[in-house]
Amino acid sequence: MKFIHITDLHLTAPETALNGSNPVDRLNACLQDIENWHSDAAFCVLSGDLSEFSESCSYTWLKDRLAAFSIPCFLMIGNHDDRTIFLNVFPDQPKDSNGFVQHVHTSDGRVFIFLDTTKDGKNVHEGQLCPSRLIWLKNQLVQAGDKPCYLFMHHPPFNIGISYVDDIKLEEAEEFAQTLESGQNIQHVFFGHVHRMTYVNWRGTSFTSLPSLNHQIPLVSESVKGEYCTEPPAYGVVMVEPDQLTVHFNTFLQRDPLHQTKLHN
Ligand SMILES: [Fe+2]
Repeated sequence: MKFIHITDLHLTAPETALNGSNPVDRLNACLQDIENWHSDAAFCVLSGDLSEFSESCSYTWLKDRLAAFSIPCFLMIGNHDDRTIFLNVFPDQPKDSNGFVQHVHTSDGRVFIFLDTTKDGKNVHEGQLCPSRLIWLKNQLVQAGDKPCYLFMHHPPFNIGISYVDDIKLEEAEEFAQTLESGQNIQHVFFGHVHRMTYVNWRGTSFTSLPSLNHQIPLVSESVKGEYCTEPPAYGVVMVEPDQLTVHFNTFLQRDPLHQTKLHN
């Protein structure tokens, strides 16, 4: 099966630019490219920071846009999102029994687990998996038994060597690691938040992240004047087979053909 991973849309009010780009235009281009070339994907996962300022209008725009998109989407929230405002616009969004935006999708004998790592509060950017969210995760992993499991979370539980994001990672790394031990067959973890393409193996489990659709965080802060940089956005094309998981990092805005030069006549 094939599915798509998208993260960190940072949508603003339509027609409003953010850090030199228009997040609405970026998402439109991304969704169009997916429909053009990956219409066979079973679903898309949008792993948080759907909105930059948690404005109701940005969630409403997203809802309308996805209604016109041909592939089912699973939505998650991140540190820039407000759970209450998000749920007001998306009242049918699946939640756990405590109201967190966590749910499970099972298809093709595989279990896809979507976590809510958003910590409440104004200008709070670190991630949180409180005891009730971790208990929920443990229950899902136990129920999954030996079925292959794929986890999605906004905040990673580890450092990646960039203090800008390492300072606002998931707070409960040890508790999360302990909870993962309840899973018999965790195949991979997909995350967002870091606005970069990374592969990480953390305590024996593989993780990948993607650039934001709008603005990126430089690997070396001193290499860029300013907070963010123009490295290209990407979406992930994930192919899952019985013995293999492949993630393509698709920089959809950079696919111009090369014009070959003839060296000899
Ligand atoms: Fe973000």
